[in-house]
Amino acid sequence: MKKHSFLISMAIFVIIIIVSFISMMSRVAPPKKNVIKIGLCLYRFDDTFISNVRQEIEEYVKEYEKEYGIKINLEVVDARDNQNTQNHQVERFVSLNYDVLLINVVDRFAASNMIETAVGAKIPIVFFNRKPVDDDLNRADNIYYIGAGPKSAGIEQARIIIDAYNENPHSIDINNDGVINYLLLEGEPSHQDSLLRTEWVIKTLQENNIPINKLNGAIGNWERAQGSALMEEWLNEYKDIDLVISNNDDMALGAIDAIERANNITGIKIVGIDGTKEALEAINAGKLLGTIESDKKEYAKAVVEIAMFAIGKSSLPEDIKSKLLDNRTYDVEQIPRKK
Ligand code: GAL
Repeated sequence: MKKHSFLISMAIFVIIIIVSFISMMSRVAPPKKNVIKIGLCLYRFDDTFISNVRQEIEEYVKEYEKEYGIKINLEVVDARDNQNTQNHQVERFVSLNYDVLLINVVDRFAASNMIETAVGAKIPIVFFNRKPVDDDLNRADNIYYIGAGPKSAGIEQARIIIDAYNENPHSIDINNDGVINYLLLEGEPSHQDSLLRTEWVIKTLQENNIPINKLNGAIGNWERAQGSALMEEWLNEYKDIDLVISNNDDMALGAIDAIERANNITGIKIVGIDGTKEALEAINAGKLLGTIESDKKEYAKAVVEIAMFAIGKSSLPEDIKSKLLDNRTYDVEQIPRKK
């Protein structure tokens, strides 16, 4: 009888040990999901600046995997400038239980469908570069936006022109007639970056009493080929062009292409924005007066860190946290580049 109760007590003791061990283990190491799935939706693969940012995001994801010892599955999709296509891509990611979506929206006025799909499934969204309207951004707490402040890009772009003019007016006013005749290459008509960059570069030049006179301006949709075609027309139409202000580097490089094709034109100053590799080379070669570089490494870090924070994987690094406004928006640094 004694032996029997001893065995029962032993069995109970062993069970208690096992149960407490299991519960301790589960507290120390909560069941981990070992692969994080991120969907990266780009409006177009063939946009130079966006493909620069994509490369940096891919790099940063690798660094993050190493640092935290986790596996991230990053799938990148191209909407080919079609909002319907992008809506379907988002639906697919949601149906496959992706953890978080990084969206470079095609039509920034049409983000609501994607938001409903993702937010309904409790999947956070980090929008970047193409800003949805505030009503959409404010639909839920787990929606973020990262961009390169277009107002400061416009102001800094003007400063490059102002500095060059103040140093030597003749360097920009080619025929010294006291007037700087300029052409304006604009990005997509409804993109916040085209609208605000244009507004602020012109306003800043005027406020600083730079004697500018607009010869013409047109939409080149961020594309080098379109910038080049427009410049070719303008070179035929105007004989006294001093300056080309471009909303981005690719269109600025297109204008340079047209000038080089014309063969006998010198002196026209050109300014861009983005700081793409080719634009920086053009500055070194003396073909581009300057550009405003958005820090693409910071861009990628902000996008990935905010995404991982949104899904509770890691807390925000101090440098990202201190720049996150209203817990929702983040402005990437703009760095003027000139010779
Ligand atoms: C702008 C950039 C352009 C183009 C566009 C796409 O910020 O300057 O070159 O990439 O975004 O949305």
